Amino acid sequence: MIKCLGVLSSGEGSNLQSIIDSTNGGILKGLAKVVLVISNNPNAYALKRAEKESIKFACVERKSFKDEESFNDVILTELQGMKVDIVCLAGYLRLVGQRIIRDYRNKVLNIHPALLPKFGGKGMYGCHVHAAVVKSRETVSGATVHLVDENYDTGKIIMQREVRVFENDMPQDVAGRVLAVEHKIYPEAIKILIGDLNKNL
Ligand code: GAR
Repeated sequence: MIKCLGVLSSGEGSNLQSIIDSTNGGILKGLAKVVLVISNNPNAYALKRAEKESIKFACVERKSFKDEESFNDVILTELQGMKVDIVCLAGYLRLVGQRIIRDYRNKVLNIHPALLPKFGGKGMYGCHVHAAVVKSRETVSGATVHLVDENYDTGKIIMQREVRVFENDMPQDVAGRVLAVEHKIYPEAIKILIGDLNKNL
């Protein structure tokens, strides 16, 4: 059975796009489809991408709710309402609620723009990661897809790929190289997870 993906994104959504493309004509074709895109940011380009692809989308803003729990409960209800099998965090910059993790145990994936466990944790996202990599004079960085647990960036690693970091690189140079790799490995990691889920049916 084709797996339904729900993608959470706070911004640009280029990883969302690579996932959609791979379900349309790439390695996820016939295996998965994106049925729902949720953003906490009303200006996220990810929402526009969903609209263009005729995928259901929803904006759920934290400020509309009294606490984290009720905010996350609405996201969970949306995911369940669309019968989402796998939740993909793609540039989603909030901690995922405990109930979502519990209900989707081992079925929530995240992509991180570094080689975890290095350069992970709270506050380590986007350009902050690449700035830290350059500052500490790393010669390699990369991307990691991992299962999400209750903490930031600590769940089981599904896939990693390295990129070179050169001596005169600026953070945005590393970011571009890493992002290109992200677009390749996220669909590959989703395929691995689907294979695992099908084995354990
Ligand atoms: C990606 O580089 C992703 O790895 C990163 O945000 C960017 C989102 O780009 N995520 C994190 O830093 C999470 N800790 P996108 O919106 O174009 O996919």
